[in-house]
Amino acid sequence: MDRRHFVLACGIAPLLGSCVRYHFVPGVVESGRVVVPRTAFAAFPYALVETPGLRFPIFVHQSAPGEFSAVLTRCMHRGCTVEPGDGRLVCPCHGSEYSHLGEVLKGPTERGLIRFPVQVDERNVYILDVQRGAA
Ligand code: FES
Repeated sequence: MDRRHFVLACGIAPLLGSCVRYHFVPGVVESGRVVVPRTAFAAFPYALVETPGLRFPIFVHQSAPGEFSAVLTRCMHRGCTVEPGDGRLVCPCHGSEYSHLGEVLKGPTERGLIRFPVQVDERNVYILDVQRGAA
């Protein structure tokens, strides 16, 4: 069964809000790493990977064929969940912005997102050291 799913979130005020489609994927933990099938990126360049043991999803982005990065979606300012939007990750709480690599683009945060090493083969993306995101 294909367990990929989407969440459609829309702004409350029609003039302000446009609908954003968040692409969630369940992560499977194997041998201490999170495995995500590459098919999860067939229609979207990113996935929000929900991982057992982690309170925040991992944002996995494919910047070019076979080139992936992974960051925890926990804002380093005060711990809200950052969201994908307009080529960056945006915190809805106080407006911090991060690149897809977790670099700070706009404060108030002063620290980048937690970034995870990634390995790739023909079938899967492997996210390593995910225990760093459990704190
Ligand atoms: S918690 Fe993200 S900007 Fe404050």
